[in-house]
Amino acid sequence: MLSWARMSKAKNRHNQLQQEIREHDYKYHVLDQPSLSDFAYDQLFAELKVLEAKHPELITPESPTQRVGGQPLGSFAKIPHRKPMLSLANTFSVEDLRDFDQRVKKVLERDADLSYFCELKLDGLAIEVIYENGKMTGALTRGDGSVGENVLSNVRTIRSLPLNLPVTAPALLEVRGEVLIYKKEFAHLNESQQESGEATFANPRNAAAGAIRQLDPRISAARPLKVLCYSPGWSEDLPVRTQTEWFDFLNAHGLPCLKYAEWPVVQKGLKKGYKKGLPLAALCQGIDAAIAYYETIQNIRHQLPFDIDGVVIKINSYSLQETLGMVARSPRWATAAKFKPEQGLTVVTGIQVQVGRTGALTPVAVMAPVKVGGVTIVNATLHNQSELDRKDVRVGDTVVIQRAGDVIPEIVEVVLAKRPAHTSKFKLPAKCPACGNAAVLIEGEVVTRCVNPLCPAVLDESLKHFASRRAMNIEDLGDKIIEQLTKAKLVNCFSDLYRLTKDELLTLERQGEKSAQNIIESINHSRNVSLGRFIYALGIRFVGEQTGKTLAQHFKTLDGLLAANEEELLQVEDIGPKIAASLLDRLQSSELRAEIKRLLKSGVTIALDKNSNIAQALQGLSIVITGTLPRPRDEIKDQIIALGGKSPGSVGKSTDYLLAGSDAGLKLAKAEEFGVKILDWEGFQKLAGS
Ligand code: IVH
Repeated sequence: MLSWARMSKAKNRHNQLQQEIREHDYKYHVLDQPSLSDFAYDQLFAELKVLEAKHPELITPESPTQRVGGQPLGSFAKIPHRKPMLSLANTFSVEDLRDFDQRVKKVLERDADLSYFCELKLDGLAIEVIYENGKMTGALTRGDGSVGENVLSNVRTIRSLPLNLPVTAPALLEVRGEVLIYKKEFAHLNESQQESGEATFANPRNAAAGAIRQLDPRISAARPLKVLCYSPGWSEDLPVRTQTEWFDFLNAHGLPCLKYAEWPVVQKGLKKGYKKGLPLAALCQGIDAAIAYYETIQNIRHQLPFDIDGVVIKINSYSLQETLGMVARSPRWATAAKFKPEQGLTVVTGIQVQVGRTGALTPVAVMAPVKVGGVTIVNATLHNQSELDRKDVRVGDTVVIQRAGDVIPEIVEVVLAKRPAHTSKFKLPAKCPACGNAAVLIEGEVVTRCVNPLCPAVLDESLKHFASRRAMNIEDLGDKIIEQLTKAKLVNCFSDLYRLTKDELLTLERQGEKSAQNIIESINHSRNVSLGRFIYALGIRFVGEQTGKTLAQHFKTLDGLLAANEEELLQVEDIGPKIAASLLDRLQSSELRAEIKRLLKSGVTIALDKNSNIAQALQGLSIVITGTLPRPRDEIKDQIIALGGKSPGSVGKSTDYLLAGSDAGLKLAKAEEFGVKILDWEGFQKLAGS
């Protein structure tokens, strides 16, 4: 039986941990100003998990541990919006904006300047988050504007959104905003999709919207989703009379939104480039100021950390908004001032098929060079057969092209009116273009693959991955050299790299003495590698950089990983059946095992990741506690568990340490009998790394 005092202590600590984690989540995900190291954060999180495992009655849906994505749903519930989610009327030019201003003034019968609140038009997915009595209880998609789908299980995983609000929040609060993925994180996401052999996304909006519509919340949890709030839905007693007050309210309640500032009519020096202080929402007096703001943003849009497609100009006063009402399905008090689309027209001159490291066949459109947003574009990925079928891009087609996420060129659509006669649909070949072996589309997958493990293209790409910066980091071994080496049959597998001589390198075309020396040196340099990087470098499907690290932290040694069965793999955090199956398939294969042996024999040495060393300082250790210590025994026990160890009640043969305080009795004698190492308080602190 738990005593009341112990229970209330656990509850206090639970509250304290939740509060600290929430505070850090807000500083990290909303303000972008982390207040704790990743390590310290992980420690708090681990402690919270241990505490909740011991006291499940403390777990509430608002606990930070409950964000990570629960069980997949069968379907989303359809729920009516208390207030319809409208759309915005668009304007495309400065003249349109002046007309808008005139119309509004006419309805309001006013001549004087109006206060406009200008916000970025965020290019993501609209969401309505519902808080009841300060707790997040629903999150609806726009749906048809009247009825949305409850995607709460996915939205809960977004760490920039609080699961509960301060007590000052109204009993019912609906907050509307946009779910986004920032450009930088989108680039990483696509990189890791590619690395793990999965389909890439055309743009951040698709990746964000796709995640929100998935029934499995773990998919949302794994995508770097963010939310920026912009307007209230239906709320009771909302103490807000203007859009500026609404933004103040959002800030005061820890809800993420853009920073706003007053925007004068003439703003000098900001047209050229994005400056850190540039407000991403602005209060403008009169339409001229709003236009100046719109033009400024249009000029710097590519430098913003996320995609936008215009500026939304809203009447600041809510009572004036009410007077203005709506026309059709759009409010009369706002307009979306769109940017001229940065698109171009060009002709597809060919469709190439590239073979990736996992054997994935990717169709790539080759086009007549075209400049879009200052960058010349010559090719664009068509991702896979189903994406290609959807867009039906054919050789000879005129296509509309744009830069998705401002970096990746994307074919938006085919101009069918310009399609020449006698074109045909493009089908990925039935044979791999690199080796001629069969290429197969496995049922339920979107990617067609060459399944020949000896395919030269797969070898080239695997070697490029192996040598890449985040894997073995063989700095001077560029892609071209790798292709030359495999073509000359000097390298047929990873371990061949470590047997390569300078003389062999010098037999390659255009290979100079100095650069050959550099390559040999960087190969030698790469011999000492952390376990996480090594696992990642092997290029196993679905095993990206993070999974490599997680496996390293869990298994500690390569032998440990090689000995793991399915059950043990599934016990590792974030490893599901798909990754486990892929790992087993590769790690059990005699070829890969032989290759690993050759690598180790040729001098590759694997060390434990630095991080895992600290993060799990007591991993696998069994530490028994006895005697009087400076901290309560329960707390020490929690700390041991949080650092990966165990703390059984009695000393046995498998005990690694006895942590002995003053007045240690029987246990101390027993430990001495078993030859168990004895730790004092200082020794324990040192071992635990604090
Ligand atoms: S206010 C009456 N503010 O644009 C509609 N919408 O066409 C009120 N959007 O579905 C919406 N950024 O997803 C508003 N700063 C912003 C926005 C924004 C993007 C989207 C929103 C909505 C669509 C309206």
